[in-house]
Formats: sequence, C-alpha cells, structure tokens
Amino acid sequence: MKEKLLELKVRALKDIESITNKEEMDRLRQYYLGRKGALTSLLKGLAQLSEEERPVIGKIANQIKAEISEKLQPALESFKIEDAEKKSYFDVTLPGRRIPLGHLHPITQTTEEICDIFIKLGFSIVEGPEVELDYYNFEALNIPKDHPARDMQDTFYISDNVVLRTHTSPMQIRTMESTSPPVSIIAPGKVYRPDSDISHTPMFHQVEGLLVDKGITFGDLKGVLTTFVHQIFGADMDLRFRPSFFPFTEPSAEVDIRCVVCHGKGCRVCSYTGWLEILGAGMVDPEVFKIVNYDIDTISGFAFGMGIERIAMLKTGLDDIRLLFENDIRFLQQF
Ligand code: DAH
Repeated sequence: MKEKLLELKVRALKDIESITNKEEMDRLRQYYLGRKGALTSLLKGLAQLSEEERPVIGKIANQIKAEISEKLQPALESFKIEDAEKKSYFDVTLPGRRIPLGHLHPITQTTEEICDIFIKLGFSIVEGPEVELDYYNFEALNIPKDHPARDMQDTFYISDNVVLRTHTSPMQIRTMESTSPPVSIIAPGKVYRPDSDISHTPMFHQVEGLLVDKGITFGDLKGVLTTFVHQIFGADMDLRFRPSFFPFTEPSAEVDIRCVVCHGKGCRVCSYTGWLEILGAGMVDPEVFKIVNYDIDTISGFAFGMGIERIAMLKTGLDDIRLLFENDIRFLQQF
C-alpha cells in the first residue's frame, strides 16, 4: 500500500507540473484529492491493514495529501490573477455611463411656482433675516406680550429680544418701514417653531404677501387670492373665505379649498368638513399702519400668509411632511 501511495504521489506531482489552465487544475484536484478521488479510494484499503500498520500508512497518506495541495497552490494563485485580468478587460463598444442629473427640491419648485403667480400679478419679492428681533416678529405686528405664540413652547428664543422668526410676517413691517405706499410684495422664506410630528417640522417655509395703496378693499383681497388658488390648484377649484382672527389684520379670514382627497364629500383628511385650510389673510390692522407711520386715513391694504409645505403636500397628495426633509433620493426623484 505504501508503494501505491508513493506512486500516486509521483504521478500527481508530475501531472501538476504540466497544468496549463484552470479547468485542468480543477480536474486534477478532483481526480487526486476529491471525495471519490484516487487517494480516497486507495485509503479504503486501510481497513484491511493490521492495527500497527494503519497509523503509519495513514500518516503517509496525510503527508501526500498535503504535498499535492501545496503543489497545486501556486497554480491556483496564478489562475486567480489571470481571471482578474480577464474581468478588467475594457470593452470600448460599451455605451458611456450616464451622469446622474439632479433637479430642484419640491419645496423650491413649489416656492417658485407660488412666486411666479404673484410676480405676474405685479408683486415683487423681498427677503429678510431668519434670526429676527422680537420687535418685528411680534411687537410691531400687534402681537401682545401675553399672546400664546410668544410662549417658549412656540418660539425658539436666541435671547430676550431675538428669536428665530416664527412667520414671514415681519417682512411686512420691514418693507413698510423702508418704503412709502403703494407697496405690493411677497416674502418667501424659512420660519421656525418648536414643533415636530407628521404635519410639523421645526423649520418650514412660508410666503407672506402685502398690498397697500389708496382704496384697497376686501374685494381686492378676494380677487387676488381667488386668482392665486385657481392658478395653483386649477381653475375649477372651489374656495371659501372663513372669518378668523389675527392680531395684525382686521377683519381676518382663513381661506379653505375643497378637499383634494374627497372633493367635499367628507373624509379623514378634511376632518369630515369637505374643506382644507390653506392660508391666513385679512385687511392690515390700522394699529400696524400706525407703527410704520402710514396715514390710516388715506391708505388701506391686505396681507396674507401661507405654508409652502402645506401647498406642496396638497398638490402632490403627500401625507407626511417629514419626507420633504429626509432627502431620500428615491423620494425626491419622484418630483
Ligand atoms: N403669520 C400667520 C401665521 O404664521 C399667517 C398670516 C395670517 C399672515 C394672516 C398674514 C395674515 O399676513 O394676514 O400663521
């Protein structure tokens, strides 16, 4: 048996010397070392050997197995390298890789859409600070010291007199302070409130509007906002003006559109009212005009403010505001 084993070894080592490709190598490995290979079948004869011979022959067989494997190793390595070289082969006929092209974020798209509508109606765009004085954010807008919006729970305070603006309305005051009437502006931008759930994020966007001139009436307000709603939601969109209250407008209103989900029948989204609130508005309160030294006997005006995320969500049927800021490319690609 020992001779047969040595003979097998000599044959195997010689065969390995002449290997030229991977297939041959696999075949030889299988033939000599495989489960049904030459070595295994030789060792079946072990059972017939005496107790003393068995461990001796077993040891020789293991050594032979190790030697054959070792001899195969360099061949294996060189074929691996050859394989890798084959894979890096450059196919010049392949089409080029497309460079991924981005697009505007849905909030930017909606902001631009809203602004474009008001620009066509003759409004100009103004922008102002996000870190704002309490004076512009609250005081000058006739929002009293004890108003709930001033609570720490509802406003991010930088210091006693400085806040992150909670709305874009301070731009009304900043504009009127530096311009005499007529004024027609919209102010888009970021605003901040300590709120976070499916319909609130601590940072969101608003567009504020202000129009002041001689003889401006609530009729003008209705005309401008009706045109806006028809432009952004379609000419057949129903809307209504519902009485409301804001410290800086009198009278005040909220504008509702027909529920985009149930079209007025009543559903969970519209709390079974058939209507969805989209913005706040009203005639500028004379108290605000007095603060900026506008003559309340000769001029009047209206103002409005809306959340851009809300408009974007109603237009797209999105039900979780947070998706807009996670910036998951799979989400953004859909817009
Ligand atoms: N600033 C209000 C808010 O953040 C929105 C608003 C309501 C703005 C009525 C206005 C207005 O100009 O007239 O909720």
